[in-house]
Amino acid sequence: MAEITWGLATSHVPSIGAAMDNEKTEDELWKPLFDGYQPAREWMAEQKPDVAIVIYNDHANALGLEMIPTFSIGTAEHYDVADEGYGPRQVPNIVGDAELSEHILVNLVDEGFDMTVLQELDVDHGLTVPLSVYTPNPGDAWPCRVVPMLVNVLQYPQPTADRCLALGEALGRAIRSFPQDIKVAVFGTGGMSHQLSGERAGLINQEFDRNFLEKIETDPESLSQITRAEYVEQAGSEGIEMIMWLIMRGALGDNIRRVHDTYHVPASNTAAALALFAAEKSAEENTDAAIAQ
Ligand code: DHB
Ligand code: FE
Repeated sequence: MAEITWGLATSHVPSIGAAMDNEKTEDELWKPLFDGYQPAREWMAEQKPDVAIVIYNDHANALGLEMIPTFSIGTAEHYDVADEGYGPRQVPNIVGDAELSEHILVNLVDEGFDMTVLQELDVDHGLTVPLSVYTPNPGDAWPCRVVPMLVNVLQYPQPTADRCLALGEALGRAIRSFPQDIKVAVFGTGGMSHQLSGERAGLINQEFDRNFLEKIETDPESLSQITRAEYVEQAGSEGIEMIMWLIMRGALGDNIRRVHDTYHVPASNTAAALALFAAEKSAEENTDAAIAQ
């Protein structure tokens, strides 16, 4: 059976990708952020998954504002990198896992999450930057297959944080019931506090962010009770992206260990963070594994 081995929460700020692409990671401005990633990167490089489920939002690059599914999943064999206006990032295209996508899709629909199906999808910085945070130098190919899951965080009414946590729990069950013996990592992307335009552009709320960073491990239920209006008020109009971390957290289950985290201001005009969690096997799973041997 498939196993969830770790979960990564990370901001997906486009300029973090651009800093890597343009070899600026040692510059004074960027070095502290990338130094903060290092312990997590080393740990993840030792724990390579077969597939990463990347939960992110498209930023009106693949899906126009005329059609915004609340929750959707990619079911393709591969995904191209989107052109966001400056030509596609020079990173490898993405190899999908259509069989796992299909399995997750059916299980989620059966549990009452009526996912929109994306049979073709160009992936934007929301997905490629987190992959670069995981693997800064992929060479010709990313080290794992990817299943994209998309969330509407752009346009009112965004899904509730509570619904995101519940979707994550159902996602965890779907992954663990996949019959292939593969290792799966789950990425929750976006955040932290930021607002890109309007009167409050540049808003950073460190207190809100630090509380979120703590509670995503210890008390995700409390974060799931925050309303969408409060997310926007407290964390900025784009800070509500953080609700996507709750999907990752729900999938990981109760038995987790924080491997590393880092918080940095500013990246672009925003607060950026990374939090890495190892999914520990429950006592029950360990017993099952011992019996199977
Ligand atoms: C920016 C864009 C994002 O999608 C995000 O999550 C954070 C920052 C930006 O354009 O700076
Ligand atoms: Fe974003």
